[in-house]
Amino acid sequence: MNRTAISATDTKAVVKALLDWFALNQRDLPWRHTQDPYAIWVSEIMLQQTQVKTVIPYYQRWLKALPTLRDLAAAPESTILKLWEGLGYYTRVRNLQKGAQLIVEKYGGEFPKDFDLIQDLPGIGRYTAGAIASIAFNTPRPILDGNVIRVLTRLHAIKSNVASVKTRETLWGIAGSLVHEAAEHDHHPAPCSSLNQALMELGALICVPRGPACMLCPLQMHCEAYASGLADSLPRQNARPVATPRRFAACVLEVDGLYLVEKRAEGGVNAGLWEFPNVELTDLEESSAPLAAAIELTGIAADAWTPLLTVRHSITRYRITQEVLITQPAKRVAPWCPKGKWFDLASLKTLPFSSAHKRIVRKLAKE
Ligand code: ADE
Repeated sequence: MNRTAISATDTKAVVKALLDWFALNQRDLPWRHTQDPYAIWVSEIMLQQTQVKTVIPYYQRWLKALPTLRDLAAAPESTILKLWEGLGYYTRVRNLQKGAQLIVEKYGGEFPKDFDLIQDLPGIGRYTAGAIASIAFNTPRPILDGNVIRVLTRLHAIKSNVASVKTRETLWGIAGSLVHEAAEHDHHPAPCSSLNQALMELGALICVPRGPACMLCPLQMHCEAYASGLADSLPRQNARPVATPRRFAACVLEVDGLYLVEKRAEGGVNAGLWEFPNVELTDLEESSAPLAAAIELTGIAADAWTPLLTVRHSITRYRITQEVLITQPAKRVAPWCPKGKWFDLASLKTLPFSSAHKRIVRKLAKE
């Protein structure tokens, strides 16, 4: 890597600028009002792959329903899935509960302070362990997420591919020197916590991917990318893999105000969540394919179906289109769906659904 090591004076000045800027400019986010490691853990897991503005109401509802780690450890699965409904990536919430149960069994319910013990919890990697250790316990552990990567590659005009292991290690090293320097600011109440959050906050508010607000940036005078006019073109990364389109047909069967839904089996994707009967289509184009699939799945004739809605969403690398058809058969009989159950709308609203199927429930409820 063609990068001169940053000098100690620069590190000091950068840390001071970040801490001063954060003190004045941080957003008022609910998890910034607590020191409780359980609450901070919940916030960090929710914030993996999910935007701050989406997370806020989920975080608040979660802590109202499950205010302590012991509440989470003892909660029924349906409760935690309902609280997570719509956030996606449900392995996160299962790991959260497994982690809480493990902390109760192994550590008497007290969240571990030690970085390695935190990292050993299910669903916690180097980033999340660093975030919890620094934010909850003010330990000088670095963090490196997308926002921090952007800030640091620009600050040092790092032109190599940020997806490479070598560049990542360089960035972890820089993040580590900054947080260690922050630990020296002991006149500050929690300098390691603030430094790490300042890096994330700067990436979220100022050092944004396109059109960074360099004129407002507290690090402008230290920023090598700004000096060389590269801020907008860093970081460099591999082109994103193109999204794979997938198409589904979902069937809504309504008999006397009751609807047929089934629970997804344990072990697979979205395990434990409810959904309307559906099939994946191999034909991505043909407009009659969803109807043909509904007939084939249920044996119900073509003229009994009407289109209800089309749900489009993306998950990981899939761009999914789900076309939903509705029918009102005479009887609650569906031998082709042996695990199916019939519920009224009020009950459907209490069950956890994946986001795409929750949109169907909302449509039926005319919300
Ligand atoms: N993204 C991940 N962790 C965050 C935090 N603690 N505050 C704001 N955004 C975040």
